[in-house]
Amino acid sequence: MRTLLMIKPEIVEKGLFGEIIAHVVRNRFKVVALRMLTFNRQTAEKFYEVHREREFFADLIDYITSGPVVALELDGDGVVQRLRAFIGSTDPAQAAVGTIRYTYGASIQNNAVHASDSPESAKKELAIVFGGS
Ligand code: CMP
Repeated sequence: MRTLLMIKPEIVEKGLFGEIIAHVVRNRFKVVALRMLTFNRQTAEKFYEVHREREFFADLIDYITSGPVVALELDGDGVVQRLRAFIGSTDPAQAAVGTIRYTYGASIQNNAVHASDSPESAKKELAIVFGGS
């Protein structure tokens, strides 16, 4: 099973992505691919299309296209759920102590990282991020 971990623009901008990658690797996640990329609006809208009707969608697209992200493909049994537990709740204020979002998240939008929420979304998101150019 594979999944996507995406380190978001504010963390890349602050130069903290290496720390997060080291933390992930130390916790026995297996990284099988890595890429830095900057989303254009069209790709960002496709990536986040399940949120298209949400009131925060326009802000989310502005934010995620604001600078480079770092994408990691992770492989392993049950990695989708393990990674979700490791990063913590979407809202850093609700995230468990020690999770990535607890440590690095600033707000519900600027929440440091994204992880696929199911094997199906992992497949779709990995194809967007690692497929093509
Ligand atoms: P992510 O896990 O990448 O999925 C959707 C993103 O939308 C989320 O993290 C946040 O960055 C952003 N977002 C902004 N506001 C909200 C909100 N109220 N609820 C959920 N996600 C939000």
